[in-house]
Amino acid sequence: MTTLSDMAVEVLTTADGRAKTALSRRHAATWFAARAAGEVIPLGNASPPLRPARPDKPALLDPRDVPRRRPGSPQGRIALLHAVAHIELNAVDLHWDIIARFSDVKMPAGFYDDWVKAADEESKHFNLISDCLEALGSHYGALPAHAGMWRAAEDTIDDFMGRLAVVPMVLEARGLDVTPGMIEIFEKAGETQAVDAMQVIYAEEVAHVAYGSKWFHFLCGRHDLDPKEVFHSLVRRYFHGPLKPPFNEEKRAEAGLPPDFYWPLADHPDANR
Ligand SMILES: [Fe+2]
Ligand SMILES: [Fe+2]
Repeated sequence: MTTLSDMAVEVLTTADGRAKTALSRRHAATWFAARAAGEVIPLGNASPPLRPARPDKPALLDPRDVPRRRPGSPQGRIALLHAVAHIELNAVDLHWDIIARFSDVKMPAGFYDDWVKAADEESKHFNLISDCLEALGSHYGALPAHAGMWRAAEDTIDDFMGRLAVVPMVLEARGLDVTPGMIEIFEKAGETQAVDAMQVIYAEEVAHVAYGSKWFHFLCGRHDLDPKEVFHSLVRRYFHGPLKPPFNEEKRAEAGLPPDFYWPLADHPDANR
């Protein structure tokens, strides 16, 4: 029988973006159909690859070598959408990777519900943004993209709590901070398809951060650890550099991230307030 970790490995080893997201969505539907029938697909223990398969294009460059374009220009907006598509594709893989990577840690079925649902939503996000790019005469792969997106995964390859601290609670939380500004850029340009796509992403990403916070706190409780102290030490160990204000305090609160989690990690005069 195909296990959940087999499904994860299948997604991770599929290179093409649209093929990856189609498979991801199909596996998510299979998981939730089983859950609705009162069954749980076994987790199994298939090993994920060190790095997910990637298409030949986009070329992956050091962030310093990725050309910057003015967001006010049509080309700048295409570049911004392309960067978001790249983030979403990595997010699909990050969600399946955590499922298969830490299969030795016994977790309640609800943990997998959350991660499979988020993987499904990341797949939808990649498709929505790819649709926007194609409507503007471009496509995912047409521009270079940042290498190093997988660094957080490699750094936390054997630290489950470190992975939760850095990926959903730092990187995805950062998405909540920056998405309203991106929505504004597309609103000003009258690009309604991109506005609609970004609004779906913005609404759904709150839950992804919340899943991270929920299961991070769960593991802290299991090991009788102070969540805030452990969060600070894991982020300092695995995340390179300070967190960048301004923070979206309202959405972070909605996602179960209180200010005393992130402000002490920020590089800012208010950092110790
Ligand atoms: Fe997303
Ligand atoms: Fe997400």
